[in-house]
Amino acid sequence: MGEASPSPDLYAQAREAADFVAGQSAEAPRIALILGTGLGGVAEAITEAITLPFAAIPHFPRATVLGHAGQLVLGRLHGVSVAALQGRFHLYEGYPPGQVTFPVRMLRLLGVDVLMVTNAAGGLDPALSPGSLMLLRDSIGLPLLAGMNPLAGPNDELFGSRFPPMAGAYDITLRHMALEVARELAIPLAEGVYAMVSGPSYETPAELRFLRAVGADAVGMSTVPEVVAALHLGMRVLAISCITNAAPLREASEATPVVELAHADVVAVATAAGERLGAILDGVVRRLAS
Ligand code: HPA
Repeated sequence: MGEASPSPDLYAQAREAADFVAGQSAEAPRIALILGTGLGGVAEAITEAITLPFAAIPHFPRATVLGHAGQLVLGRLHGVSVAALQGRFHLYEGYPPGQVTFPVRMLRLLGVDVLMVTNAAGGLDPALSPGSLMLLRDSIGLPLLAGMNPLAGPNDELFGSRFPPMAGAYDITLRHMALEVARELAIPLAEGVYAMVSGPSYETPAELRFLRAVGADAVGMSTVPEVVAALHLGMRVLAISCITNAAPLREASEATPVVELAHADVVAVATAAGERLGAILDGVVRRLAS
């Protein structure tokens, strides 16, 4: 054992959590949704719902962020058994990447093979105005590139292989489905690259210009750790950002004073866009069901 041993604790803990959740509902979920800031309402369409507060699930971290209910909803959408996390964990809460991704590993052990991830993000592409939706085509996980990768440490083969490729992280079939659904519903859905930063401070204009220069269209503080863990686990991933604000690429001056970005505004814009985002996810689930 020693250095080369996997992390039996994390696997055992995820197993224990999954067994607990499995004991609460008759059916294993196939599809899971992670609902980001202000987007928890997307779970309202779930029927025969069973709600479990995160605190009731063994080894589960606690949600500390306003706009996150902190509960797991199990039930059905279009006849498919689903699980929705209303709330998630972030690096900025002080959780290590292994804790941030704990729910994803538990969901996999429950039987989930399609993960739909949502988040609130700032728009770097000027075409992405507040309230718009962006399908993730790719991502830049800055904290992960710098060592905060949920797969760092001994690899647990029970979860996946040592060097999982990320080139096809955002499943092309699911992306096409989402774009088709959006088109049918006449909901504008952009496609772009999401940059993850650790936060919790918002970015400086210089940092935002840096992110824009390296190809990012939107910036947020989540999602990439969960996606990496999901890929490691062999899941298919769909991710959509709700653009809650335009990220200020230009420095403030006397003529254009600094615009304060309030978390409450982020929650409000995401909540308003939640209905459109929910309709797209709902449509993709319907297609996967048929
Ligand atoms: N930056 C980082 N995270 C965010 C933003 C932002 O502008 N808006 C919502 N989440």
